[in-house]
Amino acid sequence: MSPHDFGSRLLLVVSIFCFNGVFGSGRGTKVAAISGLQGIESQKSSLLHHKGRRSGLFDVMSFGARADGQTDDTRAFRAAWKEACKSSGSVHLLIPKGTYLIGPIKFAGPCNNVSSLTFYLKGYLKATTDLSKYGFSAGWIEFRWVDGLTLTGGGTFDGQGAKAWPSNNCPTHSKCILLPTNLKFMAMNKTVVRGITSLNSKFFHMALVGCKNFKGNNINISAPANSPNTDGIHIERSSSVYFSGAHIGTGDDCISIGQGNSQVTISSVICGPGHGISVGSLGRYRNEGDVSGLVVRDCTMTGTSNGIRIKTWANSPGRSAATNMTFENIVMNNVTNPIIIDQAYCPFSSCTSMAPSGVKISDIYFKNIRGTSSSKVAVALECSKGMPCQNIYLEDVHLDLSSGEKHATSTCKNVKAKYIGTQIPPPCT
Ligand SMILES: *[C@@H]1O[C@H](CO)[C@@H](O)[C@H](O)[C@H]1NC(C)=O
Ligand SMILES: *[C@@H]1O[C@H](CO)[C@@H](O)[C@H](O)[C@H]1NC(C)=O
Ligand SMILES: *[C@@H]1O[C@H](CO)[C@@H](O)[C@H](O)[C@H]1NC(C)=O
Ligand SMILES: *[C@@H]1O[C@H](CO)[C@@H](O)[C@H](O)[C@H]1NC(C)=O
Ligand SMILES: *[C@@H]1O[C@H](CO)[C@@H](O)[C@H](O)[C@H]1NC(C)=O
Repeated sequence: MSPHDFGSRLLLVVSIFCFNGVFGSGRGTKVAAISGLQGIESQKSSLLHHKGRRSGLFDVMSFGARADGQTDDTRAFRAAWKEACKSSGSVHLLIPKGTYLIGPIKFAGPCNNVSSLTFYLKGYLKATTDLSKYGFSAGWIEFRWVDGLTLTGGGTFDGQGAKAWPSNNCPTHSKCILLPTNLKFMAMNKTVVRGITSLNSKFFHMALVGCKNFKGNNINISAPANSPNTDGIHIERSSSVYFSGAHIGTGDDCISIGQGNSQVTISSVICGPGHGISVGSLGRYRNEGDVSGLVVRDCTMTGTSNGIRIKTWANSPGRSAATNMTFENIVMNNVTNPIIIDQAYCPFSSCTSMAPSGVKISDIYFKNIRGTSSSKVAVALECSKGMPCQNIYLEDVHLDLSSGEKHATSTCKNVKAKYIGTQIPPPCT
């Protein structure tokens, strides 16, 4: 236990004591105190419910949030959500300015009678650092089964990940403990996330799983370049997803597009540091869905290890397809691998046989990609021997070496790319 841990445990103990102090002391009274508090809460909420019908406003402060950055406010948030979700019409859940210490929490629907639910975060949410409070593979803040959620307000989700990062063994172990993702969206329809910041997540910053019709706009994400698996935005099994206007600097992919996605558009994203915008990794598991209909345009990558990358596992157990993707108007500033298809991905020593990847890559367009590469190979197309890439187009590519030297190069395996317009580096021969 570090002195820091000790400090937060002490705070927790102190706050329990204070809680008992107000309502009496001893076990019995604590139970009574809690049910007493619930009484107060339901009184308040019936007032609010009454008010709610007119204004539809649920303020976490009315549900007992302290916003002192030290008292755990999870219970107040849960109570406010419960009331908001079971009310009707157009509803606002307000988190005013202030710092809130929050443990793992699920904001679950369905909210059947709510036509639109705005989660208005003006405050600064700090994640509890005690890992024992989070469930396996859980998120920190998780939204589930809600139709028509808008998350906005200029506030911040601070995962306080620095203490958790050393216990992440995922970069080196195929079976590992997944630390909590800052913001998880599961099986949501018609979601808007606009004008929020996510900092120092313990793991991924934002993850979308099974979402339909999702719009993200003006989102800032930041974690140190050496923080493990702090992907900015991860998208999986989702469709009709639009992200535009994001600043993402992190220790892993700025955006990763996993299996089972269709109709995903990413535009005006500024990425770096980080590992760039990635499709994949695909093909690790059996029964993965295809990825199709991806557009990435008007993005700038600065000092990232990859620019645009499509990566699929060697030794993949199943068959799937990655098809119909356009990467357009992308500026690379000193990027190590600006354009890279890697179908021999296998970070663990377990893939000794290196059977070719079973993911079929086709109809991929790289258009107007310019800037600088920090490594000599600016365009690397390494496709699967078992499933050669088909219809790979490069149109107007101009990538110089950032050192100012001449002669960036291209490499190709198991692909005959089609070249249109400017080609620097020159095509593979
Ligand atoms: C929705 O509203 C109707 C009528 O106003 C009511 O009967 C029903 O119980 C409400 N459903 C929920 C889940 O609150
Ligand atoms: C989302 O839409 C699908 C149909 O496209 C529906 O089956 C599902 O229940 C909806 N989910 C929510 C949370 O509204
Ligand atoms: C994100 O960062 C940019 C650039 O610093 C800033 O203009 C924008 O207001 C920020 N957005 C949010 C939601 O904080
Ligand atoms: C390719 O993807 C784009 C963007 O999602 C979509 O509009 C288009 O219909 C797709 N084309 C085919 C042939 O599926
Ligand atoms: C380019 O990136 C490399 C590391 O990839 C770094 O050492 C170098 O300083 C960077 N150059 C510029 C001009 O930023």
